Amino acid sequence: MTQPQGIERVLFTEEQVAQRIREVAAEIDLKYRGRALKLIGVLKGSVFFLTALARVLETPVKVDFLAISSFGGNSPGMVRIEKDLDDPIQDEDILLVEDIVDTGFTSRYLLQTLAGRGPHSLALCTLLDRNVRRIVQVPIDFRCFEIPDRFVVGCGLDYKQLYRNLGYIAVMNPEKG
Ligand code: PRP
Repeated sequence: MTQPQGIERVLFTEEQVAQRIREVAAEIDLKYRGRALKLIGVLKGSVFFLTALARVLETPVKVDFLAISSFGGNSPGMVRIEKDLDDPIQDEDILLVEDIVDTGFTSRYLLQTLAGRGPHSLALCTLLDRNVRRIVQVPIDFRCFEIPDRFVVGCGLDYKQLYRNLGYIAVMNPEKG
């Protein structure tokens, strides 16, 4: 298969991603055995991982989505909810699903905000953990891969809104033709 322009190398193949998602799904099934779980996705990046995960979970799941915006400049790390969840989460088991945790600002803000709504439990699952960029600590309950400090695309991650739909995770170098 020819790789799109700018793809430097494949970090995790489609098979490796699928295998790892199955393993993490098994961990989640073990933790929530006998309960129902609500997966909360953060638009847009997490949609691809959330659906792949949901399809291999045995635990019954509901899904809901929110969208956020982050402010740079004078207020780094400031996050605001642009589109809120459709439904309350009170007394539910909630799994926040992210495609990537970088600085940690987004996840920390969302975990704090969701915790204030009285869920029965709240946990964080991410496809990718780019730990070297962390500025604030967030507890990651389930993680598929830790990645180096490189720009990556695929499985929900984009370059100028493209490449989210790649089934693999690749290092991107926009200068590479
Ligand atoms: C990405 C990702 C997380 C956030 C993580 O979203 O989906 O929400 O960044 O970064 P942080 O740990 O530094 O806060 P992005 O802003 O790229 O939006 P997208 O999902 O629409 O691509």
